[in-house]
Amino acid sequence: GIARRLDRPVVLVGLMGVGKSTIGKRIAALLGTDFVDADEEIERAADRSIPEIFAEFGEAYFRDGERRVIARLMEEHHGVIATGGGAFVDPETRALILERGLAIWLDCAIDTLVARTARRDTRPLLKDGDPHEILSRLREQRGAAYAEAQIHVLTDDGPHNETAYRILEAIE
Ligand code: S3P
Repeated sequence: GIARRLDRPVVLVGLMGVGKSTIGKRIAALLGTDFVDADEEIERAADRSIPEIFAEFGEAYFRDGERRVIARLMEEHHGVIATGGGAFVDPETRALILERGLAIWLDCAIDTLVARTARRDTRPLLKDGDPHEILSRLREQRGAAYAEAQIHVLTDDGPHNETAYRILEAIE
C-alpha cells in the first residue's frame, strides 16, 4: 500500500535523457507526494545554471555541491527525487541513497537517449563530442554503479506514463 511505498524517498537514477524528471513527476503525482529535482536544487543553491557551474568551477566542484544537495534532500524526506546522471556514480552519494532511499535505475537504448538529449542544449558532458559515443562510454563506465539500484526499469517501450505505472508496480 501507499504508506509502505512512502516510508523512504524514491530516488531515480540513470543516464541523461532517460526520463528521470518527467517520470519522477508522474510517479509523485500518482503517489500523491512531492517531487524534487536535484539538478534544479543545485542550480538554486549555486545561483547558476549547470553549464555555468561546470564552466566556472569545473566538474569536481559540481559533484561536491551535488553530494551536499542530495544529502539535504534525503534528510528533508521528499517523496520522489530525480538525480542528475552522475550522482549515483559518486560512491558517497550512492551509499547515502541506498541506505535512506529506494533507488530506481531507469535505462533505455542509447539511440533513445541521443534523441531525447538532443532536444535541449543544457548538458556540459555532451557538448564536446558525438553524443552517441559519449553516452555509450558513460553507460559502460557507470553501468556497474547504476546496477546497484534496488529496482531496474526499462523506459524504451511506450510513453512515460506507462513507465510510471510499471514503476509503481515494482515498488509495491
Ligand atoms: C550529468 C547529468 C545531468 C547534470 C550534469 C551532469 C551526468 O543531469 O547533472 O549535466 O554526469 O550525467 P541529467 O541526467 O538530468 O541530464
